[in-house]
Amino acid sequence: MPKTPAVTRHDPMPLKDKTVLITGGAQGIGRGIAQAVLGAGGRVCIGDLDAEAGKACLAEWQVGPSAHFAVLDVAREASVRRWMTAAMKRFGRIDGLVNNAGIANPHAAPLAELSLADWNRYLSTNLTGAFLCSKHALPELQKRHGAIVNIASTRALQSEPDTEAYAASKGGLVAFTHALAVSAGPGVRVNAILPGWIATDDWRKPELRAAPKLSRRDHAQHPAGRAGTPEDIGGLAVYLLSSPSSFITGQSFVVDGGMTIKMQYA
Ligand SMILES: NC(=O)c1ccc[n+]([C@@H]2O[C@H](COP(=O)([O-])OP(=O)(O)OC[C@H]3O[C@@H](n4cnc5c(N)ncnc54)[C@H](O)[C@@H]3O)[C@@H](O)[C@H]2O)c1
Repeated sequence: MPKTPAVTRHDPMPLKDKTVLITGGAQGIGRGIAQAVLGAGGRVCIGDLDAEAGKACLAEWQVGPSAHFAVLDVAREASVRRWMTAAMKRFGRIDGLVNNAGIANPHAAPLAELSLADWNRYLSTNLTGAFLCSKHALPELQKRHGAIVNIASTRALQSEPDTEAYAASKGGLVAFTHALAVSAGPGVRVNAILPGWIATDDWRKPELRAAPKLSRRDHAQHPAGRAGTPEDIGGLAVYLLSSPSSFITGQSFVVDGGMTIKMQYA
């Protein structure tokens, strides 16, 4: 009779010796993911438009060679290429990519007033950025059986008025995720996280850092009893980047404290 596998212990360092690239990794959810990766034994290469915020991360983390920062604009291919080259020079390998950088404010303008330039700005950063970074990381990820995690939004699934550009960019990211999972498998897995309301004020660069201003009502409207934190996203990102999730690809995971499962009859 074949033997049933024995009880295996949970590995507290599932990303030991792995290198993960995180776009928009210097503040907010991206910084939360970077810290979760470091906590799981990984090395991080964060890329961000905001150099001050990136330098502040390195100064505050004090993890020496385990973290690297380089200025990055995900919407520009030349910048993406430079960032990948810097990561390879520093770490020599890419095991994971988190496409997190985004224009996080969903409210642009009513459609009749939404300029083509603003529409393109949302799409370039939130969607084209993920395409460019995935494209240029893929050859290295293929060598390592790596993983990509795209940070979309519950706004890929539901909306408030005047958020078309943001919602379209995030819906596009969900579709990009399952399309690339099919193309890049079996070598590389690709999944998406759809965060809900994540409070990030205390995850900004030092001069902008503040305690989140959330009321009791803000928290209580969530079935889980509270709004989210970057650490809530970081925990799932680590799982999706590491081998315990090796049978999961092309999927989208809502992390929103239960907000999207509430039935609404106004
Ligand atoms: N905070 C939320 O409630 C929430 C909810 C759902 C989805 N999201 C998504 O999560 C991601 C992070 O959001 P956040 O709230 O942490 O935002 P944030 O504004 O706090 O941080 C975003 C970081 O990305 C950087 N960035 C912006 N444009 C960039 C570019 N072109 N190239 C490189 N870096 C760039 C910024 O400098 C910043 O450091 C975004 O994609 C956002 O759409 C956020």
